[in-house]
Amino acid sequence: MDKSTRIIIIGAGVFGLSTALDLATTGFTNITVLDRCMPPVPDGSSNDISRVIRFDYGDKVYAQLGKEAYDLWNTPAYADSFHQGPCVWTSQKKGGLAGGSDFIRRTKNILDDLGLEWHDLPHVDALKQRFPAVAGRPIGEEFEGFYNNAAGWADAGVAIAGLRDRCIEAGVSFVTGPHGHVSYLEHGKEDSGEIKITAARTLDGGRIPGDKFILATGAWTASLIPSWNSMVATAQIVGFVRLTPSEVQALKDLPIIFNLSTGFFSFPPHEKSGYLKVACHSFGYTLSSESVNKSVSAPPSRAIPARANFIPQEGMERLSAGLREILPEIAERGFEKTCLCWYNETPTGDFIFDFHPEYQNLFVATGGTGHAFKFLPVIGKYIGSAFQRTLSPELTAKWKFHTEYRDQPREKLFTGSNSRNGGDGSRGGPDRREFSAQERDRLLGLTDALATRRARI
Ligand SMILES: Cc1cc2nc3c(=O)[nH]c(=O)nc-3n(C[C@H](O)[C@H](O)[C@H](O)COP(=O)(O)OP(=O)(O)OC[C@H]3O[C@@H](n4cnc5c(N)ncnc54)[C@H](O)[C@@H]3O)c2cc1C
Ligand SMILES: *[C@@H]1O[C@H](CO)[C@@H](O)[C@H](O)[C@H]1NC(C)=O
Ligand SMILES: *[C@@H]1O[C@H](CO)[C@@H](O)[C@H](O)[C@H]1NC(C)=O
Ligand SMILES: *[C@@H]1O[C@H](CO)[C@@H](O)[C@H](O)[C@H]1NC(C)=O
Repeated sequence: MDKSTRIIIIGAGVFGLSTALDLATTGFTNITVLDRCMPPVPDGSSNDISRVIRFDYGDKVYAQLGKEAYDLWNTPAYADSFHQGPCVWTSQKKGGLAGGSDFIRRTKNILDDLGLEWHDLPHVDALKQRFPAVAGRPIGEEFEGFYNNAAGWADAGVAIAGLRDRCIEAGVSFVTGPHGHVSYLEHGKEDSGEIKITAARTLDGGRIPGDKFILATGAWTASLIPSWNSMVATAQIVGFVRLTPSEVQALKDLPIIFNLSTGFFSFPPHEKSGYLKVACHSFGYTLSSESVNKSVSAPPSRAIPARANFIPQEGMERLSAGLREILPEIAERGFEKTCLCWYNETPTGDFIFDFHPEYQNLFVATGGTGHAFKFLPVIGKYIGSAFQRTLSPELTAKWKFHTEYRDQPREKLFTGSNSRNGGDGSRGGPDRREFSAQERDRLLGLTDALATRRARI
């Protein structure tokens, strides 16, 4: 590929930025990244105070990729954002989803295959002995679990800011705000009959032409291009509890803990903000709107300075219940703030790094499916190879844009617990559902208020 080709990357999350950096450092000279906001984007999925970094996977490809990334997170380049520490996986053998036990079994097998260490937690007392910060009394009957000391968490906002700065140093241009917020992709027919994207058209009426376009718009992607049922955006719940400085100290050795039976997981305290963050890795909520030709789920599109302080009531209860199991006293005081964070899900949980079937110069890098952040140090290399069609046949097949879902009913592909999506067993909790009318009004009302406040500043 001609290195002076004009490359427009839409989306400055982990996929867009890591691709920009890889291309810029392998000789491409004309790269422009567009986004609704300057990264770290306040409501982008790649921004927050923490993301789990682990290579415990029930899938060999992601386990190996996770290990490759983990080794880099441990180098000085990521010292300002990465915090090493153990990751605990727990599940109830019966009741709820059997998926948890399945995930544990497959993950242990893969770690064994790769010669990587893990430690069994045969009963709840073993959990409490090894991690005394766990003050609660999780149910002991039918408990199973293990942990991996080679894991940790990254301050996502800090890591993304570092990646952005490396992009700027490497010569990548950024266009953000209304002139970087893409309203649609302009396209035209070639003499050959092929359809090509000619420019990104922006909210302020601007036109940004290019030769190749890379769409890395996360959960917003299906609202910009025909997605052929290959993705669906789901909102997931997150909560933040305020800790005192002495609690931050007392809980500093709290591990990352996943409860596969409910999807609940929690982080060690975030010292800088004084927050203890908890979330659910679940099937989530959809927010449908009329978009490119049909109804798709997408996050609100207006640029906002912070996520709206809102999750559905039942979500609040799930977060509280999860926290009560491990830190009952802390759970008492409730959440200072909650928010939604968006996954762009694919039916298999695999990423999509491929050219769009309809537009020959449009490459799509999306489908993070709730687990992509950890790959920040390495994923650009793979996306860059896919873009230049030099990726191995195995990975090309794994990350292809699937066209066979097009005529299948979306409900069958993305049904929640019955679906293959999240079928790696790492999800728990109720089935996916659409926000109720009330929840929708509340979310959109709060978002509009935040967007308007921003516009006035
Ligand atoms: C609650 C939560 C917890 C998670 N936990 C983990 C974890 O512990 N470990 C892990 O590895 N992963 C985790 N993930 C997943 C990971 O964060 C995502 O897979 C990853 O961040 C997705 O990156 P992205 O670049 O695809 O999307 P994003 O970061 O959302 O980037 C997309 C960008 O596109 C921009 N954009 C959208 N539309 C337009 C437009 N029209 N014009 C211009 N720009 C546009 C947006 O502003 C946004 O900045 C979690 C995700 C969530 C939501
Ligand atoms: C990219 O190419 C365009 C058109 O040729 C040119 O105007 C622009 O200055 C180039 N940008 C960079 C960063 O080289
Ligand atoms: C996981 O969730 C189940 C169901 O709510 C609960 O009984 C159990 O105690 C939890 N385990 C942990 C370790 O939090
Ligand atoms: C909408 O549908 C038409 C007709 O099927 C198709 O040609 C067009 O590309 C679609 N529009 C977009 C932006 O996807």
